[in-house]
Amino acid sequence: MQTLVTNRPEEAARHLNRGETVAFPTETVYGLGADAFNPDAVAGIFRAKGRPSDNPLIVHVASPERVGNVATEISDDARRLIERFFPGPLTIVLKKRDAVPGIVSAGLPTVGVRCPAHPQAAEFLRHCHHPVAAPSANLSGRPSPTDWQTVEHDLGGRIGCLLRGEPSTIGLESTIVDCSVQPPLLLRSGAISLEALRELVPDLQIATSCRKGETPKSPGQKYRHYSPEAEIVLVETPPETLPTNKPAAWIGFSSPPQGAAKSLQCRDMKEYARELFSFFRACDAEGIRTIYCELPPEKGIGQAIKDRLVKAAGRG
Ligand code: TXA
Ligand code: MG
Repeated sequence: MQTLVTNRPEEAARHLNRGETVAFPTETVYGLGADAFNPDAVAGIFRAKGRPSDNPLIVHVASPERVGNVATEISDDARRLIERFFPGPLTIVLKKRDAVPGIVSAGLPTVGVRCPAHPQAAEFLRHCHHPVAAPSANLSGRPSPTDWQTVEHDLGGRIGCLLRGEPSTIGLESTIVDCSVQPPLLLRSGAISLEALRELVPDLQIATSCRKGETPKSPGQKYRHYSPEAEIVLVETPPETLPTNKPAAWIGFSSPPQGAAKSLQCRDMKEYARELFSFFRACDAEGIRTIYCELPPEKGIGQAIKDRLVKAAGRG
């Protein structure tokens, strides 16, 4: 398959409306979209990514008003979250409408809905005739892509079109809140923090999938995710030196230990989040065998960074 690369949202939408798979930028990570109401098109997403079919997809809408096109029984909590955080890096799980085929929801009675704030994504979605089902645009089991070059590397020749944009500004996938249950459940942490969510939904619970070593509530959380080929070592404080028998890398806030073959010292948590997945990818490309990662404070987006680090270390 020839993958057309374009920077024109309208052109990308034309491909999607024809039933093709189209990768597009969002502020969190790049997504791989297909017409959510066209089961054959959606099957193309699973094929291109090598994604297990029991892992449901998030449906993307062009504006908050369109949530009702794919979901029903929108609770007061959900309405408050939509009003405050849509468009933005939040996904809300709600009871699905019949128009959403089972292949999108992996047979679940619910659907995850997101309205991205990214201007190109918003324009693309406005030109699409239907809502757009989209997981992250990586090969299954690889870190989510935060720039178009990585999408091309993973999926070039496997998808119809790639909408080329700037690198994602957040760099970690959306926060997911399940509002189809009472009390609502945080299924995945992201840029919208637990603290911010609890201002609107004080009784929000944390799903066991967000806690270490427990059974996941969100189907996707059971798969090994965000895994570079290198071994991940999580540290509270940096060691003075890294072993030099195998190339090792460092990412964190502290200055890099001696012996680091590659390093990234982040100024703040935003930078850590934004750069983490592309750092993992670059380490793999350069043959790094161990990546030492400094654990961030568990507040704000630090929760989400920690969650991805723990998963990458194979402990989540
Ligand atoms: O930021 C993001 O959310 C990106 C961009 C492209 O929007 N998308 C993304 O999709 O990260 P994906 O497929 O890589 O992760 C979606 C997660 C999976 O863990 C999946 O199991 C969960 O959302 N999910 C989707 N629908 C669900 C549902 N109805 N109930 C529970 N979990 C659901
Ligand atoms: Mg993904």
